Amino acid sequence: MKYIVISLGGSIISTDKLNLELMEKFSDTVSDIKSYDKFGIVVGGGKLARSYISDLKRYNVNDNILDEIGINATRINALALTTFFDDANSKIPTTINDATEMVHNYRYVIMGGTEPGHTTDTVSTLLAERIGAKILINATSVDGVYSDDPKKNKNAEKFNELSYNDAIDLSIRNSKGAGTNNFMDITSLTIARRAGIKIYVVNGNNMEEYRNILLNGKCNGTIIS
Ligand SMILES: Nc1ncnc2c1ncn2[C@@H]1O[C@H](COP(=O)(O)OP(=O)(O)OP(=O)(O)O)[C@@H](O)[C@H]1O
Ligand SMILES: [Mg+2]
Repeated sequence: MKYIVISLGGSIISTDKLNLELMEKFSDTVSDIKSYDKFGIVVGGGKLARSYISDLKRYNVNDNILDEIGINATRINALALTTFFDDANSKIPTTINDATEMVHNYRYVIMGGTEPGHTTDTVSTLLAERIGAKILINATSVDGVYSDDPKKNKNAEKFNELSYNDAIDLSIRNSKGAGTNNFMDITSLTIARRAGIKIYVVNGNNMEEYRNILLNGKCNGTIIS
């Protein structure tokens, strides 16, 4: 059995609206590919999560509850995505254990977050580690990992490849400012390093990226290994 995990960033799934066109294209693309037997798909929170969180923050709501609200948003996004697949779970697992059991029953297991303090980046590497997937596609709204946030710094340079250690150093530097976005958090990269999971960070709106990775292991984004 060949396993793969895809982390579908909320930044592409939930923009100003629920991005159903993208969900449909994504499901058509991966359903055509036979080079992998089982897919774990972890969906992020995107604008839905961010809007609830930023509104509630103004009322000094506890961060743990804000995380819980964000997790529920990821699960709504995940449930919406299941409707585009024939052979996927219809109930969203809330733990890595439950998702792992579901992998026996479905070709696609789709989930969101698990618990406060864990991002969906971390959930996706934990799921990959548990089911023995050696490849993780991190599909997001930028086309790779840059020396700095490319949406804020026009001079940032894109990396074709990064070592785990260099990616971790960059993620630490990125996460210093309050409320900054990050390509992946430190915990997720540390799990990937210990499990030897190769990560492809790519623009998730571009279906060619999924095809190229799934069929020949190549991409135009950044490979972390
Ligand atoms: N060094 C960097 N390289 C690439 N992107 C970076 C970097 N630093 C910060 N970013 C920002 O990280 C963002 C991606 O993270 P973000 O959490 O917003 O998206 P996501 O993970 O796809 O969505 P979600 O968290 O909702 O699932 C990019 O839009 C980019 O602006
Ligand atoms: Mg994110």
